[in-house]
Amino acid sequence: MAKILLVDDNEINLMMTEMVLSEMHYEVETATSGEAAIELLQQNQYDLMLLDIIMDGMSGIETLARVRDMTEISGIRTIFLTSSSQAADMTEAIRLGAMDFIRKPALPEKLVAAVQRALLEQEKDKILAVDDDEMSLMTVETLFGIRYDVRCASSGAEALAEMEKEKPDLVLLDLRMPGMDGLEVLERIRDMEGCEDLPVVFLTADRDPGTEAALFTAGATEFLGKPLVMQVAMHRIRRILEHKHLRDSLHDEVNRKARAFQESNRKISSLSDQIIRALSGAIDAKDYSANGHSVRVAEYARELARRLGKSAEELEKIYNAALLHDVGKIAIPSAIINKPGKLTGDEYAIVKNHSLKGYEILAPISEMPELAAVARWHHERYDGAGYPDGKAGEDIPEIARIICVADCYDAMSSDRIYRKALPQSKIREELEQNKGAQFDPKVAEAMLQMMDEDRDFKLRGNKGK
Ligand SMILES: [Fe+2]
Repeated sequence: MAKILLVDDNEINLMMTEMVLSEMHYEVETATSGEAAIELLQQNQYDLMLLDIIMDGMSGIETLARVRDMTEISGIRTIFLTSSSQAADMTEAIRLGAMDFIRKPALPEKLVAAVQRALLEQEKDKILAVDDDEMSLMTVETLFGIRYDVRCASSGAEALAEMEKEKPDLVLLDLRMPGMDGLEVLERIRDMEGCEDLPVVFLTADRDPGTEAALFTAGATEFLGKPLVMQVAMHRIRRILEHKHLRDSLHDEVNRKARAFQESNRKISSLSDQIIRALSGAIDAKDYSANGHSVRVAEYARELARRLGKSAEELEKIYNAALLHDVGKIAIPSAIINKPGKLTGDEYAIVKNHSLKGYEILAPISEMPELAAVARWHHERYDGAGYPDGKAGEDIPEIARIICVADCYDAMSSDRIYRKALPQSKIREELEQNKGAQFDPKVAEAMLQMMDEDRDFKLRGNKGK
């Protein structure tokens, strides 16, 4: 928890403020004079100092002035506690880099809010001041220099070059400048990447409503009249920067949440891919005579779908559904699936049942209904003579029609336990003959094209000639 040094020569005030801050679980140490405060600062590390302005002996202002001169403790963040409304004190306090003022007696909620705000403010905000008048730039630097990291540019072009190197948190921009005027600089800033919402505050000597309206339309954030009134300017700038930080942190939070959401989606998607692959491995382990059939069918089906103009998302669905198209074989006795010879009528009936078994296994996966659909209908024929439902033509889901062709191509082109792979010319013939009978003609055509274009023999690489 943050450590706060509380400096006040009035013991009652000291006690009351300490009580409020301790309630908020801050670690508080106290000093009743400027001298004692400096001594404590030299001995300990504090995150923040609350400093009374009017004290017997060394005043708060004098104390801070001395602190700022002592290199090792000069950076202490300071809030003034004051009952004084003297403008001179305020001006000097700002010049010394006070972060805030709390009027005494301090309302607990205001005290806590100011402390929280000061503790949150980690780094000095960067202000880019743009003015062709050197005196104006000096005034801005003097006014804001301790509280903010002020950079100066004496023309629009110089300002834009500076911004290319490093983006400030706020731009203070003179309207009337020779060459590029303030309006043009603003327009150029708004065109820069990441500067669409950057606060741009105009410094104007003449506050003409028409000009202000035009500048607001072009994206100006605020106006400050020249000559600058210190307290007003400080207040406005601080408010604008607080707003910017709030918006930035909201933006960061939204981005963080979006990234976490994407990551969680990626994990879920990767997990389902892994489960599908594992299950597909289980099918191939059971149907070992088919020797990697599921993965090959998935590869062919995806390529067919790509040729048929399907989207990336559809290609992934088709690939996964093809991996699991024969999942029902898990429920069929291994002796039948891997039987070396011809199947009997009864055995064939049992094997055919794998499509319904597969459907039953995959139907509970309601987020991917295509898995169950493919398991059930990949043995349907375009002419309606397939199984298990005798569906025909477009009644068979397209994904199942695609996988059916990929499945048959692999069955024909692979060595099986009961026969050798068919030659490509024979497969070609089969596909041609069965266009519109067993196969959807469009899909069969795509398969034929794929075979024709297979110049590197990829389709024949691990199987029969
Ligand atoms: Fe099958």
